[in-house]
Amino acid sequence: MDMNFFLPVKVIFGNGRIRELGSLISGDRIMIISDHALLELGFVSEVKEKIGRTDFIEFCEVEPNPSCETVDKAAKLARDYSVDTIVAVGGGSVMDTAKAVACLVSNNGQIKDYLNGSKTFTSRKVRLICVPTTSGTGSEVTNVGVYTDKSSGVKKPLVSEFFWSDFALVDPRLTFSLPKSVTASTGLDALAHAVESYWAKSSQPVSEALAIRAVNLIMKYLQRAYTDGDEESREGLSMASLLAGMAFSQTRTTILHAISFPLTNIYGLPHGFACSLAMPEVLKLNYKVIGNKLDILIRYLGLKNIDELSNELEALMRAIGAPRKLSEIGIREKDIDGLVESSLSSPIAKLNPAKIGREELREIFETIL
Ligand SMILES: [Fe+2]
Repeated sequence: MDMNFFLPVKVIFGNGRIRELGSLISGDRIMIISDHALLELGFVSEVKEKIGRTDFIEFCEVEPNPSCETVDKAAKLARDYSVDTIVAVGGGSVMDTAKAVACLVSNNGQIKDYLNGSKTFTSRKVRLICVPTTSGTGSEVTNVGVYTDKSSGVKKPLVSEFFWSDFALVDPRLTFSLPKSVTASTGLDALAHAVESYWAKSSQPVSEALAIRAVNLIMKYLQRAYTDGDEESREGLSMASLLAGMAFSQTRTTILHAISFPLTNIYGLPHGFACSLAMPEVLKLNYKVIGNKLDILIRYLGLKNIDELSNELEALMRAIGAPRKLSEIGIREKDIDGLVESSLSSPIAKLNPAKIGREELREIFETIL
């Protein structure tokens, strides 16, 4: 068989390892990218202290599902200051913004030029250090960023060979105080990354090994992290998110993420809840096509069959307060056709092993209406 595996990110993982941040910085023109909430909670101050210097600029205005306008605003600041190092402190939205800004410093134009394909990044001179503060996105080890074009309301992924960070500094301690709802949603995002990477047509032995372990850790720790938030479960989820990110960095995601885009853009559902809403239904459809492969995952999890796995997923999602029906977020029968079209317009929908076209997706949405 043929296989490619490429992951050019130095990973530093462990409780308290944020103390090593200062040693990763080699430049003189440093920019911190983060968001309002993390600034208020003191995370940005902690990072500044660990960098051990005071001569840098900050951009702490990244919103959930970052807009092209926000990326361009941060990029202007970075260009004006001739930034040579960017430290991204936050969740997926912050890290995705930082990836684009790091590239825009060395490439002209606006992020929309790259999102619509009229330009391509050709270099990156800025060192990028990602410090995740949630356990879900995996963005610290992928070369994908997702951006929202407010004028069209479309949320689109952008892949670039220049989006890999130089360092992923994953300190589980930074997730210890995550609110329950964020723990639930980001944990389910990681689960979707792992499950989709595992079943993706583009999967391969290394990504499968990473994905299967990530699913195992999430099934073991997500509910506990939500209920108790103890150190062991937080650390387990941070590792799971990292492994799931590594897995889907090789394979990309599939129909669950394709479905998530309109659910988030139009109905405002948090990303992880949007990715997992149809997981049990898609799992059953995929089992008909790749049953043997899914049986390996089922046995690894200590379960007997596909129904047990589906029930476990359902129980986990209910236990952590994830919406289980489209109607819970205001979707009605008349909205389904639009949702189907919008979901299938995403190219990643085609990476799903079972063919899910208009008819099949309509059926899935009717089941979970
Ligand atoms: Fe995701």
